Amino acid sequence: MSMNETIQTISTRRSYREFTDKPVSTENLNLILQAGTFAPSAMNRQSAEIIVIKNETKREVLRALGMKLFDGRDPFYGAKEIILVAALKDSKCPIQDGSCVLQNMFLAAESLGIGSCWINCVEDIFQSPEGLELKHSLGISDELIIVGTCILGYPKKYPEYPKKRKAQYIRFVK
Ligand SMILES: Cc1cc2nc3c(=O)[nH]c(=O)nc-3n(C[C@H](O)[C@H](O)[C@H](O)COP(=O)(O)O)c2cc1C
Repeated sequence: MSMNETIQTISTRRSYREFTDKPVSTENLNLILQAGTFAPSAMNRQSAEIIVIKNETKREVLRALGMKLFDGRDPFYGAKEIILVAALKDSKCPIQDGSCVLQNMFLAAESLGIGSCWINCVEDIFQSPEGLELKHSLGISDELIIVGTCILGYPKKYPEYPKKRKAQYIRFVK
């Protein structure tokens, strides 16, 4: 198989759930965020928004609300960088647009040696009254749906890779 760096990164990307205390530099964070903005979007509507939670208090409130939903388990795995990807509910393809943004960020992170993981619970967190208050305090309007969340950090341990791919993932129809 002919590999280049991009395909190598795609093939070795994993979800990381244990992080060291080393912070992600602003420079690397910005590279990852920029990569997100270069995602394709339906009709180039760019319906997604990337919300980087830099306010420690709000980040910890989000974590605490998440822990309530998960019987005390931190659904963000202690990550210090929590990035929400939201999209306009009534745009053409909000989930698809937001998912492309997220995947671009995961791959950019991997290419920089930074671990990432998709976290799916934030829309659920925002359903409670405290969650809704937090959502609004983050400047996220009711026209937006949270497509997914990207956590970032330096991996404490590297999971084995890649996970076995199912048989018949690809089918050629002639
Ligand atoms: C839509 C979606 C939602 C996910 N939600 C979560 C989540 O809430 N928490 C989590 O730990 N991982 C979540 N993941 C990560 C998957 O568990 C992971 O991608 C899968 O097990 C394959 O492992 P890999 O990413 O290391 O290849 C999610 C992935 C996707 C695509």
